[in-house]
Amino acid sequence: MGAPPDKVARRAAELARTLTEHSRAYYVDDDPSVSDAEYDRLFEQLEAIEADYPALITPDSPTQRVGAPPSDKFESVDHATPMLSLGNCFDDDELAEFDRRARDAVGGRQLTYCAEPKFDGTALNLRYEAGLLTMATTRGDGITGENITPNARTIRNLPLRLLCDDPPAFIEIRGEAVLARSKFEALNKRLSDDGHKPFVNPRNAAAGSLRQLDSKITAQRPLAFMAYGIGRVDGAPVPDSLYAQLRQLADWGFSISEHVRPVEGLDGCIDYYQAMAERRARLDIEIDGCVFKVDDAATRSELGYVARAPRWAIARKFPAEETTTTLNSVEFQVGRTGALTPVAKLEPVFVGGVTVSNATLHNMDEIARKDIRVGDIVVVRRAGDVIPEVKEVARRGERTQPIELPAVCPVCASAVERLEGEAVARCTGGLVCAAQRREALKHFASRRALDIEGLGDRQIEAFVDEGLLASPADIFALAEHRAALVEREGYGDKSVTNLLASIEAAKQTTLARFIFALGIREVGETMARDLAEHFGTLDALRAEAAAYLERAERAQRDEPDNRAARERIMTAEGLQAVPGVGSRVAHCIADFFAEARNTEVIEALQAAGVHWPSATTDAGAQPLAGRTFVLTGSMEQLTRDQASARIAALGGRVTSSVSKKTDYVVVGEAPGSKRDKAEKLGVSLLDESAFIALLDDVEP
Ligand code: IVH
Repeated sequence: MGAPPDKVARRAAELARTLTEHSRAYYVDDDPSVSDAEYDRLFEQLEAIEADYPALITPDSPTQRVGAPPSDKFESVDHATPMLSLGNCFDDDELAEFDRRARDAVGGRQLTYCAEPKFDGTALNLRYEAGLLTMATTRGDGITGENITPNARTIRNLPLRLLCDDPPAFIEIRGEAVLARSKFEALNKRLSDDGHKPFVNPRNAAAGSLRQLDSKITAQRPLAFMAYGIGRVDGAPVPDSLYAQLRQLADWGFSISEHVRPVEGLDGCIDYYQAMAERRARLDIEIDGCVFKVDDAATRSELGYVARAPRWAIARKFPAEETTTTLNSVEFQVGRTGALTPVAKLEPVFVGGVTVSNATLHNMDEIARKDIRVGDIVVVRRAGDVIPEVKEVARRGERTQPIELPAVCPVCASAVERLEGEAVARCTGGLVCAAQRREALKHFASRRALDIEGLGDRQIEAFVDEGLLASPADIFALAEHRAALVEREGYGDKSVTNLLASIEAAKQTTLARFIFALGIREVGETMARDLAEHFGTLDALRAEAAAYLERAERAQRDEPDNRAARERIMTAEGLQAVPGVGSRVAHCIADFFAEARNTEVIEALQAAGVHWPSATTDAGAQPLAGRTFVLTGSMEQLTRDQASARIAALGGRVTSSVSKKTDYVVVGEAPGSKRDKAEKLGVSLLDESAFIALLDDVEP
């Protein structure tokens, strides 16, 4: 085809602009403006025009993110200004020392700092000429980096053109390429499914993805670019204040952290660090500390540089989450379902801000896979609030011993069994085992089960030790021990009265809670709700469990050699008609009801007066049916996933963009543009406490 007609050229430009805006709304603002299908439709239109008239392809066209031919090596490029590193500090004293030295340079007055998260990714330097991205390089040694432009272009939230009318002739934008935790897990799953080696952490995944010679591979990695600074600029002024510079970058279309703040003096820095440390485990993008930078330009140039690091900035690192120590011995802990968990007894070490002397070894398969022995020097990891774990062997100890699974339960001496194909070994003692009894009771009384206020883990442990409780039904006989309870240390008449009242109240429950409280292996809260909804009564569930076992026997008898035929017999009806119930779960349920001691527990509970409304719990369980929620900003008490799960459990729906049909917008800290949109449309806004109150209110 010849030269493109004006009309077509105008349409191509308009499509490119619209697609760029939609893409920005999606990847930068986290606030989609069109459906995926609509985006794809416009994208295809633009592709079609560009195929007919290649002269219309611009370097910043949305179609040009992927497509550069693979290269065989990376070219070295000098940065226009060096990429400096940061001094580190690990405690408040060192931070105070940094602040004192910085203030000394300005006659002791208090300084304003630009406080930012320190992203745990890999640094990138982007060069824009007349607003257009012309080069992207890795940090390299700080002076020279590697040209990875085709790879950087695939990062969806990275602007190919600055969003401003009057761009500087030349500017370097610096930031970190990162991979969100949630995306990292999915990526690793995909890699292992395809037989590739998974990445150790998001930082390695980001760095590895950027150093692919074929940008098509990088394009499949959901990287993001978080801007944190400006290098050399020619031909336009940039704000003096670093905080204002970051706002400027956001205006130009870059993602910057929503946690960036100007803070006042050392106290402001310490408060900021505390707040971020507390928030850290819930952030989707990993950070390994905070960065404090003197905000105003004059003070910065006064302070200058030492070696390769500025004297006006410092990184306050979070305590290490991994360290090494000696594995002294291994004990086996018995859980609610009898599962034996190997627990490492360690030479105490300080890691992730606390002293750790116990860590999980998960199970025997993991121990074998990692080849861990008593006496080894091991890597201990503690991430966020999760249980510390032994990650791997750092080096073999001098005198080591293999870790062996005990033949009998360390608590009740019943036999330990390990079923074929299962990683977990179990104590076969059931409620004979004091450990299982204790854990089963804790579960039974817990908030999401029978929710007995005043009967927490501590009380249950004490009551079991004192012989007051052995099985769940004993809880309802505690009233008979009133006198003994009142005599107990720390208890009085009032607390006993309250406890007995909440036990009495717990007798009235729902079938879903009751099923969950039984602690059937593989049956969590959602599954319990689905089972209750599907079968309506406990008797129906029990009957199906029995029928399932019969079918299993028949299938085994009739089709011993034909697995597919057996499956057909098994999945046709009954238990497996419930969503999420596969053969593994069905077996657990069937086995549970087949055990006489379990039916005895159920009968004893019913005899003690535990009951629930006989109809299905449908209406009660779905109080938010038909309601649509949008979440924006971060909450203190709930992660986004937890909030979404609670809404979904109550029948509500969470969507990503606000419309007139949205019922509620839940506004956390530092909300995005969704909040403004909700206000404009008159949608109800809920802050975190109102949202939690609403959930608590409607939860059955
Ligand atoms: S500023 C002159 N800000 O940390 C200051 N760096 O050693 C230069 N990093 O590899 C860096 N988050 O990529 C700065 N908010 C942040 C950062 C950050 C992460 C990385 C940076 C570099 C290292 C500094």
